[in-house]
Amino acid sequence: MRTLKQIREITLEHMKNETVELGEKVTSIALADYRDSTLFQRELEVIRKRPLPFVASDKIKKTGDVFAGELAGVPIVAVRNEQDIRVFINTCRHRGALLASEGTKKDCQKLVCPFHGWSYSLEGELLEVPSSHQCFSKHTTSAFRLQELKSYEKAGMIWVVLSPHSQENIFEESFHQLHKDSDEIGLNPQHAMPEMSFLAPFNWKVGVEAFLEVYHFAHAHAPYLSQLQFPNLSLADSYNENCRIVVPLKQPAGEIPVLGWAQVMYFIFPSSFLLFYDDHVALISLVPQTTGETKFRYTPIVPREADLKNEKIQQRVEFLKIILGQDIAILEGVQKGLDANRNGKFVFTRLEQILEKFHQDLHSNASAKSHPTS
Ligand code: FES
Ligand SMILES: [Fe+2]
Repeated sequence: MRTLKQIREITLEHMKNETVELGEKVTSIALADYRDSTLFQRELEVIRKRPLPFVASDKIKKTGDVFAGELAGVPIVAVRNEQDIRVFINTCRHRGALLASEGTKKDCQKLVCPFHGWSYSLEGELLEVPSSHQCFSKHTTSAFRLQELKSYEKAGMIWVVLSPHSQENIFEESFHQLHKDSDEIGLNPQHAMPEMSFLAPFNWKVGVEAFLEVYHFAHAHAPYLSQLQFPNLSLADSYNENCRIVVPLKQPAGEIPVLGWAQVMYFIFPSSFLLFYDDHVALISLVPQTTGETKFRYTPIVPREADLKNEKIQQRVEFLKIILGQDIAILEGVQKGLDANRNGKFVFTRLEQILEKFHQDLHSNASAKSHPTS
């Protein structure tokens, strides 16, 4: 893994020589991999073992704040108790009713099930069972703790792992490089602006691929990004399945902070991106719904509360929405082609080698038999 300082030096060389980083070989992937529902289920299992952004930390800022929502089909409730944040599956241990209704609630002291009134503490303990002595011959509340999920607060978001079978240190591993670079980057995203979220009609991997490469910038995002970026120049460094991608911008060189000359993006495997600009961070998350539908989420996150109303940042958010709109229109077309072209392949050129790695990492977890071929 190269340091940001090394990346900076290599970037200057590339600029001087008008070169870019290239992969060794051209690879391809069968289109069937984007439609295969068995493989899709295995991919979901991989996704459930990795961090997914659930809710902005600000939404549960005070003790007693509760937020309930859904993530990859799983109902979840996040609560802030006296000590920390806890995240639980939002279903009652009695007969499965949703404990908290969707959205935010304030000043909660406990979670009370709307069905038969079982109540739980903000630590997930079962507190009371109406007519408990008639329900049970002896007191058995400890057997009915809420199912807790691993959670982690980072970049102004509460991240959650849905599966109980995830790697022990998965959060540390996923965010390790972001943590390491944070002093140099000097921007600490803490406060999320409202999320833009919608159901996009394309496979989630098609979306992830578009955010991993910059080859499309000069064409799909002309004239906007082509004025800002050096065509095809990005410097990707993987750390395990995750990746940091530095995209140098056309800015004056010199002893200025990293974000004065580049955009830095962290790919949190397998479907989230944190794009660092000089004044805010864009969180993009792609949550698979079906083989042809993806929940697309975009959340701008700013360092200070006062920045939530900063006009310059808001303009940049609007600008990014235009860029995202360009991507989404193209990706919808890609999906139509995928559906029509049953036996074809996608090609990953030497400019897109990172896509090959993404698929290899995904498939080594999801399936032993299916991976990109030379
Ligand atoms: S389902 Fe919750 S109390 Fe019965
Ligand atoms: Fe794009």
